[in-house]
Amino acid sequence: MKNLFLILFFILFPAMLFSQKKQSISIIPEPVSIVEKQGVLELTKNVIIKSNHPTEAVSAISFLKEKLATAAQRTFDENKQSESSTIEFMLNKTKQASLGEEGYSLTVSPTKVSITANEPDGLFYGVQTLLQLLPAEIESKEPIENVKWEIPAVEIVDYPRVGWRGLMLDVSRHFFTVDEVKQYIDAMVRYKYNMLHWHLTDDEGWRIEIKSLPKLTEVGAWRVEKIGTFNEFSQPLPDEPKNYGGFYTHDDIREIVQYAKDRFVDVMPEIDVPGHSLAAIAAYPELSCTEGADKYNVRAGEPFMDWSQGAPPIAMIDNTLCPANEKVYEFMDKVITEVAQLFPFEYIHSGGDEAPHNFWEKSPQVKELMAKEGLKTMPEVQSYFGKRIEKIIQSKGKKMMGWDEILEGGITPSTALMSWRGINYGIEASNSGHYVVMSPNNYVYIDLMQGDASTDPVVYQTVRLNQTYKFDPVPDNANAKFVLGGQANLWTEQIYNIRQAEYMTWPRGFAVAESVWSPRDHKNWEKFIDKTEDHFKRLDFAETKYSPAMYDPIVTVAKQDDKYYVTLTTEIDGLDIYTSFDNSSPDRFYPKYTDAQVIPKDASLMRIITYRGKKPIGRLMTIRVEDLKKRAK
Ligand code: ACM
Repeated sequence: MKNLFLILFFILFPAMLFSQKKQSISIIPEPVSIVEKQGVLELTKNVIIKSNHPTEAVSAISFLKEKLATAAQRTFDENKQSESSTIEFMLNKTKQASLGEEGYSLTVSPTKVSITANEPDGLFYGVQTLLQLLPAEIESKEPIENVKWEIPAVEIVDYPRVGWRGLMLDVSRHFFTVDEVKQYIDAMVRYKYNMLHWHLTDDEGWRIEIKSLPKLTEVGAWRVEKIGTFNEFSQPLPDEPKNYGGFYTHDDIREIVQYAKDRFVDVMPEIDVPGHSLAAIAAYPELSCTEGADKYNVRAGEPFMDWSQGAPPIAMIDNTLCPANEKVYEFMDKVITEVAQLFPFEYIHSGGDEAPHNFWEKSPQVKELMAKEGLKTMPEVQSYFGKRIEKIIQSKGKKMMGWDEILEGGITPSTALMSWRGINYGIEASNSGHYVVMSPNNYVYIDLMQGDASTDPVVYQTVRLNQTYKFDPVPDNANAKFVLGGQANLWTEQIYNIRQAEYMTWPRGFAVAESVWSPRDHKNWEKFIDKTEDHFKRLDFAETKYSPAMYDPIVTVAKQDDKYYVTLTTEIDGLDIYTSFDNSSPDRFYPKYTDAQVIPKDASLMRIITYRGKKPIGRLMTIRVEDLKKRAK
């Protein structure tokens, strides 16, 4: 008898343990507080959804219903109360100060889910967290069978660290369709972003219909198609067709703005002036101070700026609007009139970055303007331009934001700044009472490579996931009162399609989301990486592309005497590295990397792969020895 008990115990105990085993909680961005409770809620086939304010809660409810209906095939029949799980959406009658406008509390018990918030935004973020408590399959776009649709019992209280949690999408260098922009928004809202900064104009394309200036999109939206390495392209030939590009009509824009609004995302348009304006000048050459602008074309990616002397660049062709030409301000008035009507958001971003001054320096018109206005330097000329643009923006009831270059010649107190050349301009501006958004290129420029040049399209520099994770939108010496928040920027020179846009955004977008939402002291790199791996599964089901670069080693090369040494490190722990110089593909039976390796004298290729235990996990990297040697410091 005793033995029977023992046998039963050993059979049943693991089973009991198994039935107790819950999916581990893996929420990005990390919430303010999570208290895990006993048990799980098993989601019934039919789910009752209730709210004390059904109209205000409609966005959150319909978002959740769609996921539950699609992946989990749940129904929402109100007549089946007794056999159904309940999910309730409650708006506080008396506002709970700690939750603010975007916070929520989420309680899951074995019988009920309850999301409570002060505002509909909070309910929506509560839904995003709830979805992350469900199995990863909830992100599937088609029904998935044989999933235990369970939610761990938990009490979560959560609210964001900063109010501006943005991603910038450049649709000028490459055009993205309305559906693709929506797809980008879909991915952002999973991680509680609330701002899409839409970079709509640049040298390579004008993407917003301006009805009073039709040539902007008839001419400015189209260029010669080039494929390969941007910035190294040959000059387009006169007979090559300019049929690559596209633009958004007013209806398209209204559709995107509404789509974003339904998901609690604001859309900030950017019209980048006075630099980055070649597409506008190709359409209306009279906007330039430079003779011969009527021969200019929308840029297709051929070299046209010399950065060898630093910033501002020396332009080989003049891509600036003429600050000394009244027609430019009439043009901008027309543009801003329509932009202001289309976008409800309070700010219009008017660029201001990287404007070359070398053509202005030679321009008699600019010289005349300087004499008339008492302007002594080119930054002062640009500042004059900026102030005129600000007046136009304000006359349409909006506020102006610009890149940090606009600080240089002096800005008005009401202008807000986006700090991109590091954080110092943002710190300086916040301390002088300007609102700022932190978007430093050395942390959150997600157009930069996140992996090795052997796996990623080569762009200027590398910003790996661990560097992005260190992003702090409110540095200690900034005036926090004036820091609106933080934002990552996706420039698309080298990004030809939405799959690559996603690949560049994720998982660095997780790191930025956690930096702008979670309390600073809740950030934890090891935990973040575990969560990132869980979320890769979610993105697989969602069919959102992401970069696995965190599994690939960081390759550095040093030269000593006449020998080259390759050092390999990994961003994350627990990986083994295997290499070969004999052109074969290494596996885990090759010698494991331990120390810097000397490149054999006659080797021509190095191949590298990482394993976790017995499983290959990194990508096979193949680098020519010739290229490795070029990397030597
Ligand atoms: C910028 O990256 N030029 C704002």
